[in-house]
Amino acid sequence: MKREDLIKKYLEFFKEKGHKEVPNSSLVPENDPTVLFTTAGMHPLVPFLIGQKHPLGKKLVGIQRCIRTRDIDEVGDSTHHTFFEMLGNWSLGDYFKSEAIEYSFEFLTKILKIPIEKIAVSVFEGDKDSPKDLESARKWEDLGIPKERIASLPKKNNWWDPAGLTGPCGPDTEMFYWRVKEKTPKKFDPTNENWIEIWNDVLMQYTKNDEGNYMEAKQKNIDTGMGLERTIAVLNGLDDNYLSEIWQPLIKKIEKISRKEYSQNKKEMRIIADHLKASAFIISDGVLPNNTERGYVLRRLIRRAIRQIKNLSENKISIVEIIKPVFKIYPEYNLDEKLILKELKNEEAKFSLTIENGLKKFEKFVENKKELSGEESFLLYQSYGFPIELIEEECKSKKINFKREEFLKEYEKHQKLSQTASSGKFKSGLIDDSVETTRLHTATHLLNEALRQILKDKNLVQKGSNITSERLRFDFNFSRKLTNEEIKKVEEWINEKIKKGFNVKKEEMSLKKAIDSGAQAEFGTKYPERVSVYTIYDEKDPKNFISKELCTGPHVKDISELGKFKILKEESSSLGIRRIKAILE
Ligand code: ALA
Repeated sequence: MKREDLIKKYLEFFKEKGHKEVPNSSLVPENDPTVLFTTAGMHPLVPFLIGQKHPLGKKLVGIQRCIRTRDIDEVGDSTHHTFFEMLGNWSLGDYFKSEAIEYSFEFLTKILKIPIEKIAVSVFEGDKDSPKDLESARKWEDLGIPKERIASLPKKNNWWDPAGLTGPCGPDTEMFYWRVKEKTPKKFDPTNENWIEIWNDVLMQYTKNDEGNYMEAKQKNIDTGMGLERTIAVLNGLDDNYLSEIWQPLIKKIEKISRKEYSQNKKEMRIIADHLKASAFIISDGVLPNNTERGYVLRRLIRRAIRQIKNLSENKISIVEIIKPVFKIYPEYNLDEKLILKELKNEEAKFSLTIENGLKKFEKFVENKKELSGEESFLLYQSYGFPIELIEEECKSKKINFKREEFLKEYEKHQKLSQTASSGKFKSGLIDDSVETTRLHTATHLLNEALRQILKDKNLVQKGSNITSERLRFDFNFSRKLTNEEIKKVEEWINEKIKKGFNVKKEEMSLKKAIDSGAQAEFGTKYPERVSVYTIYDEKDPKNFISKELCTGPHVKDISELGKFKILKEESSSLGIRRIKAILE
C-alpha cells in the first residue's frame, strides 16, 4: 500500500463515522507552549481537549506532521525518525473507549485487512492512580483478540502524560503487528521486537494538577495516533522503514551521489536522510538555523547530516543535491523549496567556513612545531567549532603530536552553562515531567552519588544528563571503563537505598549556603543567587544525607517508588567522559 492510499483510507473511514478533518498544523506549536515542536497530533488540540468548543465539532480526524528529538540518538536504526507523520482520530467528550477500540479494530481488520493472528494489544495494568483497565481488555476479547495476546502493562508502557506539568492524560491501549513471516507466537511478549507498535488509543480520563495528582476529568476524550512510516512498512512486508517508498527516493539519491550501497552503510544513510528531511520541514515552517531553541535544533540536525556525509564519502557532496526527492515524496505539503535550498546552502557554507578557518588556524599553530597544545586544540574545538575527530585526523596526517590529556583538561575547565543549556535543549525536544521521567530523575541523583562512593573519586561530577520516559542517560568524568564488578556494586548501592525507602525533600536557600552544606552542583553551571536543593535522607538520621544536589526537580517524595534500578550500558561518551544508560524495572 502507498502512503497516499493509507492516508485516504484513514480519513475516509473516520469521516464516514461522523468525524471532521482538522488541518495538518505547523511544527511550531501554536496551542501548546510546553513543547518546542509539535510531537503528536494532540498538541494542536490541547485547548479543545480541556473544554474549549472546537468549531468542527466533537469528532475529529487528521494527519499531523511531527518532530521528536528526544530519542535522536536512536535515529540510525530501522524504526526511529525525528520527522514522522501521525494519523489520528479524536473524540472531544463524545465517544469513549468502547467505540474507540471498535473503530481501531474495524480499520485494522476490515479496511487494512490485517489478519487477526498478526495483531496483539496492550492495556494498562493499574496502579495507585488508576485501576486496571479491564473494560478495554474485555472489549478486545469480545472483538476476537485471544486473551494471550492482550498484555497488561504498567505506566511506563501504557500511559500518556501531559507534556508539561499539568494537562489531559490517562491510560492507553496499544496495537502491535507481528512483522515477520515466522508463525505468530501464541502469547504476546511485548519485549519481542518482532511485535511493532503501530497505533495508540489514549483514553484521556484524567487531568494532572499542579501537585502531580490525577483528577477525574470533566470531559473524557479519545486521542489516537497511528505511526504512518511504521504502518506503511509493515503493510508492505518490510522490516526496515527506510525500505518503503517514503524513504527510498532519498536513500537512492544518497547511494547514487556517494557511490556507496545502502546495505553496507545503513546507519549513516538513515541519519542523513532523516535529518535532512526533518530540516526541510522545519525550515518550511519558518524556523531558520541559529543558536537558540528551535533554530539550534535545526542547526544541529543539518551539521550532523553533513558530518555523516563526510564519513560516508570523501567526495564533495552538497546536502542541497540530496534533499530534492523530499519535495516529490510530499507534494501536498507544498514545501517552500526555494527557502529550504537557500537555508541549507547557507548553513552548509557557514559550517564549511568554520572548518576552513579552523584548518588555517591549525596550520598556524603547528608551524615549525611537532605538537599541538591542549589550549590550541581546545580553541579549535571551542571557537572554530572544529570536531575533535577532525583535529585528531589532521594531527595524524601531519605527524603532529596531539596532547589528548591537555585538551581534556581545557575541556573540563571550560564546560560552561551556555554549552550545557543548548545541548540540553537539543536533547529535550519535549519538556517532559511525566511520572516516569520524575522517577528516573531521582534515580539519576542516586546514581551520581553511587558512582562517587563506589569509584572512590571525590572529583567525579555530572557532565550531562538526558532522561526520556524509558531510560536515563548520565555522563560523568572518569578515565577508564568500569569493571563488571563496579557496575554491580553501583546497582546494589542504589537498590539497597531504594529498598529502605528514604525520603526526598526540597529546600530553597542561598547558593552559598547550598554549596557550604555539601550539595553537589552540576556541570560547573552558573546558578542564580537562590537555589532549590533536593536531599535524599533517612528520617532517623537526617544529618547524614544520602544525596544532596542543586536541582530544579521534579522528584519523587519517597525513593521506594523507584522500583529496581538496572544499568544497561556503560561506555565512552567522549574524551575522559563515560556514559551510563539505565532503567527502572
Ligand atoms: N498522543 C498519542 C501518541 O502520540 C496518541 O502516541
